[in-house]
Amino acid sequence: MTRLVELEATGPRKLDPADIDDEKGDVAICQCGLSDSFPFCDGSHRRTTDEEPETTYLYEDGERRELERVVTAADDEAERGE
Ligand code: FES
Repeated sequence: MTRLVELEATGPRKLDPADIDDEKGDVAICQCGLSDSFPFCDGSHRRTTDEEPETTYLYEDGERRELERVVTAADDEAERGE
């Protein structure tokens, strides 16, 4: 599965000790792209548990849609063995 996400940041977010979760003692970074507290995980990744491996999804306005696979020029070249 893949997901399309929109990010507006143009630079890094530096973490500091204040970012450590007081209860868990760690920092969880979102890798699914769905967190409302990005770059931190807020548990939104649970919405991805039933995603199909070969499907691309778009999460928008609380809804999930399946998209036609986006093929880049690099993907196309790789499939042709170039
Ligand atoms: S990994 Fe994205 S919300 Fe948890």
